[in-house]
Amino acid sequence: MPMRNNAVLVTGASSKIAQAVIKKLLLLNVSKVYAVSRGFSAAENQWLTSEQRIECLVCDYSEEDIGEVIHTIRAGSFPLTQVYICHGVLHTKNQSKNVNNQSAIEVNPEKRLEDIDVDAMMQVFKANTLTPALWLKHLPSVVKHDKPCVVTVFSARVGSISDNQLGGWYSYRASKAALNMLVKTAAVEYSRRAKNVKLIAFHPGTTDTPLSKPFQANVKPGKLFNAEFVAEQLLTIVANLPIDQQAQFLDWQGKTVHW
Ligand SMILES: NC(=O)c1ccc[n+]([C@@H]2O[C@H](COP(=O)([O-])OP(=O)(O)OC[C@H]3O[C@@H](n4cnc5c(N)ncnc54)[C@H](OP(=O)(O)O)[C@@H]3O)[C@@H](O)[C@H]2O)c1
Repeated sequence: MPMRNNAVLVTGASSKIAQAVIKKLLLLNVSKVYAVSRGFSAAENQWLTSEQRIECLVCDYSEEDIGEVIHTIRAGSFPLTQVYICHGVLHTKNQSKNVNNQSAIEVNPEKRLEDIDVDAMMQVFKANTLTPALWLKHLPSVVKHDKPCVVTVFSARVGSISDNQLGGWYSYRASKAALNMLVKTAAVEYSRRAKNVKLIAFHPGTTDTPLSKPFQANVKPGKLFNAEFVAEQLLTIVANLPIDQQAQFLDWQGKTVHW
């Protein structure tokens, strides 16, 4: 298969779904994958660095570090045609990384109003909303070109305001709802400034990853996906999207989720 002249950026690249996306991208013969993370485990490092088309970039998600990643991409040879922004924090159980954030406190999804803790909430918003916002801020200079580019921002159905029947999970829900609004608002501006870009907020479905691990007991049989399945679904969705300058909120089946 001939090499394509394109690059892909994956941020939050140690996410289990992100790792599966990267593996599938390599099978599609992309020219280059920029994998950006706060840090890679030894196992992740081993396979990522064994593949020449992957460039691993460690980033603390400060604006300065994000700017450096963008600079690296701008200096590269290939136009970005896909971006996957994968950050998501629901809890911090078994979290081994605490990069540049020594004051990080334990996060658990709130069951009731009394559980709201401002420091924990800020931590969730920082990862789920503010970090993706910074990527959206800095991306235009590397996605503005004559090739179409799809930017996928990982959201969650629980971030749908109209779909909220169950309540609870205040921080995670609100951070993803705010993220959705950022995606929708950024699409308006990108339609003027980077016309070949399509933005989507993506709900992967409940997927077997560290994020969902403590909550998998109640998942109905057949409804817990593996990351490889979700990655396959997502790449097929991305390949078939119209570049129509409209933000969409889509699930793993490619079906619209109401905002
Ligand atoms: N799994 C599910 O059932 C499910 C359901 C709905 C939506 N989602 C969404 O899918 C996306 C991928 O999640 P996953 O299930 O693959 O989870 P995961 O394997 O637990 O990955 C966690 C992700 O969050 C990032 N992250 C963690 N702490 C962070 C921080 N303090 N600042 C910035 N980024 C931070 C990690 O980036 P680093 O590489 O930098 O560590 C990584 O990308 C998330 O947006 C999640 O909300 C997942």
